[in-house]
Order: sequence, then C-alpha cells, then structure tokens
Amino acid sequence: MPSLIDNINLAKLPLHVAIIMDGNGRWAKARGLDRSAGHVEGVNTVRKITEIASELGIGYLTLYAFSTENWNRPQEEVDALMHLIVIAIERETPDLIKNNVRLTMIGDFSRMPEEAYRRLCRCKEETARGTGLTLCLALSYSSRWEITDACRRIAIDTANGLLQADNISDETISNYLTTAGIPDPDLLIRTGGDKRVSNFLLWQIAYAEIFVTDTFWPDFDKDAFCRAIIEYQSRERRFGLTSEQLK
Ligand code: FPP
Repeated sequence: MPSLIDNINLAKLPLHVAIIMDGNGRWAKARGLDRSAGHVEGVNTVRKITEIASELGIGYLTLYAFSTENWNRPQEEVDALMHLIVIAIERETPDLIKNNVRLTMIGDFSRMPEEAYRRLCRCKEETARGTGLTLCLALSYSSRWEITDACRRIAIDTANGLLQADNISDETISNYLTTAGIPDPDLLIRTGGDKRVSNFLLWQIAYAEIFVTDTFWPDFDKDAFCRAIIEYQSRERRFGLTSEQLK
C-alpha cells in the first residue's frame, strides 16, 4: 500500500477521474528505446492505476487510450498499439472480474479493425456484472466527432418527432453523447506535461478540476495518482458560484 493513500479523504473522492495518458514515446526516447517500448510500459501503468482507483473506491476511470487523430500515426505504430490494447485487456479480464471492475468503451468503433473490436466487446460482456469501478476506455475517440454525431442524431430524432426542439436541454445533449449514463469527470489528469485537452471529453469536463504533471505516463505510479487526488481534494469547486455562496 502506498503511504500517500492515508492522506486521502475517502469521504471526498472524485466519482469520476479521466486521464490523458501522455508521454509514452518520450519516455522510450529518453532511454534510447523504440516508441512501442513506451506503450508496453504504459500498459503496466494502466494496470497499476486501475488497481489503485478500484482500491480507493473511485466510481469511474476513463482512459484516453487511442484518439481518432492517432489513426494518422505511422501504420506500424497504429497496428502495434491496437494489438497491445486488445492483448492487455484480454489478459487482464480475469483480474478485472475478480476485482469487480466493469469494462466499457467509448469511441468511433466503425474505424476499428473488426477483430479487435469484437474481442474488446467480449471482454466488456464478461465484466458486465462488475459493480465496483467502471473502467472506460476511450478508443478511436474524439470529442468533436462525438458532439457532431450527437447533433446529427438529435436532428434526426427531432425531424422524426421523437424530440421537440424547444425541449432540448443540456441533459438531452449529455444523453446523446457516448458517455450517456456516466457522470461527468470531477478530475482530469494529464501526464507528460502538455497543458491542453486534446479533443477529450470537451463537453463533459466543463467543471472538472485539471491536474497536469510532467511525469511521463510509464512513470506515473500509485503515489502519483494519490498526489493528484490529494491536490483535487484541496481545491474549492465553485461551479460558477462565489466562495460565500458555498458556505
Ligand atoms: C500517448 O503517448 C499515449 C498513447 C497515444 C497511447 C496510450 C496507450 C496505452 C498506454 C496503452 C493502453 C492500454 C490499455 C490496456 C488501455 P505518446 O505516444 O503520444 O507519447 P509522446 O507524447 O511522448 O510521443
């Protein structure tokens, strides 16, 4: 057990933590290794962070595993990443089940290799009864794609009389996103030092606290995760109100 865990207030945990896992390539380069070695090490971090999130009792952990923009990387890297993700999830499925973790995915799966998607769906079904942590993988995901797709479906449903234009609320929009039914993230963590949101959950992070660390994803460990939670717990979330109103 990491020592920092004792400094976490379990009564004030974020319900949903979302993570932009960045820095695999730079981690590998700094060691004179191929980028894929960074992704392999990154999978070990996914395991560790899933473990600690589950141990703490966090409800939802969403990981940005592959963006729609990532399809434009060299084909070799795309193939290696897809293979790695599928193999890792299949390998971890028995442990996910044992630990009561439920796997889910968000993204534009029409662009995913059929076989990879089929295998991930099988893992999703096998963990469907988990009542602990929900591990949500953002795969072939981009927020603008998701919002555009939601608008298209809202327009179709409005034209077909299933929705009334006057009644469209922000809740309606949330319900048309791939994250429907998942609470908005309370905390967004980005590793690798860049201070941007890279087309990730743009609608959903409206009030998320943002934590950026220079640590590359392969070096991000359980203590580093605890540090992000502790920092989150020290912030005052005002949701547009004043401090006085909150008191
Ligand atoms: C960013 O690092 C990371 C990715 C594009 C992929 C992250 C994927 C994994 C860690 C594997 C996920 C596995 C599972 C099981 C979910 P980068 O390559 O952009 O690093 P750089 O910014 O240093 O180049």
